[in-house]
Amino acid sequence: MTKTRNSKQNSSVEVLVTGDLCPDKCGYANGTGRMLNESMEDIFGRLAGTMKNADVVVANLEAPLVAKGKPIIKCGPNLKADPKFAQAMKRCGYDVANLANNHIRDFGPEGVVSTVRELEKVSIPYFGVGRTAEEASKPLFMTRKGLKIGFLAFAENEFGVVDEYGWGAASMDPAFNGEAVQAASKQCDVLLVFLHGSSEYFPHPSPGMIKRYRYYARCGASAVIVSHAHIPQGWEIYQKIPIFYCLGNFMFPWPTPPNARRKCWTQGLAVRLFLSKTKPVKFEVIPLQSQYDKVSVDILPPARRKAFEKHLQSLCKTLQQPKKLQRLWHDRYVDRGSNLIKRIRNLPEGYRSHADLMQWAILENMFRCETHHEIVMKYLHLLRNRNISKPKKA
Ligand SMILES: [Fe+2]
Repeated sequence: MTKTRNSKQNSSVEVLVTGDLCPDKCGYANGTGRMLNESMEDIFGRLAGTMKNADVVVANLEAPLVAKGKPIIKCGPNLKADPKFAQAMKRCGYDVANLANNHIRDFGPEGVVSTVRELEKVSIPYFGVGRTAEEASKPLFMTRKGLKIGFLAFAENEFGVVDEYGWGAASMDPAFNGEAVQAASKQCDVLLVFLHGSSEYFPHPSPGMIKRYRYYARCGASAVIVSHAHIPQGWEIYQKIPIFYCLGNFMFPWPTPPNARRKCWTQGLAVRLFLSKTKPVKFEVIPLQSQYDKVSVDILPPARRKAFEKHLQSLCKTLQQPKKLQRLWHDRYVDRGSNLIKRIRNLPEGYRSHADLMQWAILENMFRCETHHEIVMKYLHLLRNRNISKPKKA
């Protein structure tokens, strides 16, 4: 693809960041084929021009690029995409790939290695993964129009993170991430920190996760961009640093129509960041509409944009209302927490089969994943203090 980046008209560096990108869903949708063969306008609609004009387009690639391989034992689906998708990304103008997410290791460390090899073949730099925790937490630097931009990424401690078995995502770990962010921020003009976590399908980030994400801003990020919840969660300017709590899905075709829980599946956000040495970072949020049954995304049409923008404003307002947020999350803790506890009660006696191990993985994830941990802990705390208006059967 020929970029039409306009370096003379605008002195700032424009970085376009999009939400979760999973083009194939294990062969369900031919995202790779479409992006290799069809026009940008056919696939990305009116966003195509924005992608072509941006100085840097960042992908949040939420699937390993691997032909075969063995799915790991985990809870949730094992995702992968065609290795040729790296070529498709290159053709569509992606400049850099963020790989720190909960699916990048769905086909083991080998799947992560395959992904980085495919990206290297087409000269797309990546960040957020490595063979060790230290390597995964190293920043990527890129210079555009004389501005040095740093990229760092960390994912919640689900099954995608690096461990003693090899390649994986950098883990969200305040004990070490703070130093990594501080050090990286001193080596560049602008540091973008990407985080992957939060409660899925809920429009508000949890109080615990807000606390965590603000910490990255205080450590030296110029902007913090979060993904994973499959739903936009608003944004705020915190101590002059924009924090985008969740961009939602960018392109994530799925075999079945979104149900009530996943009704937000096809609505996401892109963010245009206008970077310079001046703070705070300026930005524009673009509401997007994708399709669950095909590889297609477009800017939300004007007729539907007004209502969605009103909804987004309300989400942003709620972020500044801690008591309201606490109330909303009280109910969420009870609802999700009681569900998770029910799952513990249904655990098998032993772990003889693959299915048994997958059940036990649910329990493991309750301890290791920050959001699930927060939910279970808060639910049990509310339960013990009889602060649940309608106790659920646990
Ligand atoms: Fe995710």
